[in-house]
Amino acid sequence: METKIAASILNANPLQIADAVKQVETWGTDWLHLDIMDGVFVKNMTYGASMVKAIHEITELPLDVHLMINDPCRYVHQFKEAGASRLTFHYESLSDPVETLNLIRGNGMEAGISIRPATPVELIFPYITKVNSVLIMTVDPGFGGQPFRGDMLQKIEILRSYLDAHAPQVSIQVDGGIQEETAAKVIQAGANQLVVGSYLFSAENPAAAVADLRRLQ
Ligand code: DX5
Ligand code: ZN
Repeated sequence: METKIAASILNANPLQIADAVKQVETWGTDWLHLDIMDGVFVKNMTYGASMVKAIHEITELPLDVHLMINDPCRYVHQFKEAGASRLTFHYESLSDPVETLNLIRGNGMEAGISIRPATPVELIFPYITKVNSVLIMTVDPGFGGQPFRGDMLQKIEILRSYLDAHAPQVSIQVDGGIQEETAAKVIQAGANQLVVGSYLFSAENPAAAVADLRRLQ
């Protein structure tokens, strides 16, 4: 599977989000990754559907929306209206996974389910036929710029074997601490989609960095 890249603008200056979006547009990524945090599910807050809508109005990039919030089911419709292409929520949030996945797909978006580092990957197996992607967090969700957790590689391998046998169409996305070396490791383990934040924003040539990451197989 070709490696797909989503650029995360979590660490962008909130007053200059539009500039960050325009910057990402020149890099050739597949998605713009937007991190939604409620200060309850994770110890950080960002923004909600109104910001996603404002971003959607200034870019053609598909929006990969990562909900780190409790009760995500309540907000599916709002993010659909805001222009999300894919909506990923956490297994550990309070919503029923089947109901949430059905609602996301029923609203015409791709559906992703995510797990924190402490959550065993086997817990999401029962939902695999209803998802487009599984997001394996390779840092504790909440902040950009954290170091990659190597102990997540085994989780990716377990999930890859399971998907190969039961649902090869489902993608494995990883998020947190991804740069050149860690990207090679997660792809080797079976991931095929990368969320990349600080590495791209600090790269001398982000477009070349994106092209290099995409070539990894
Ligand atoms: C963290 C967010 C990530 C974050 C990744 O909770 O979900 O999307 O922006 O940032 P980096 O690539 O800097 O680890
Ligand atoms: Zn994210």
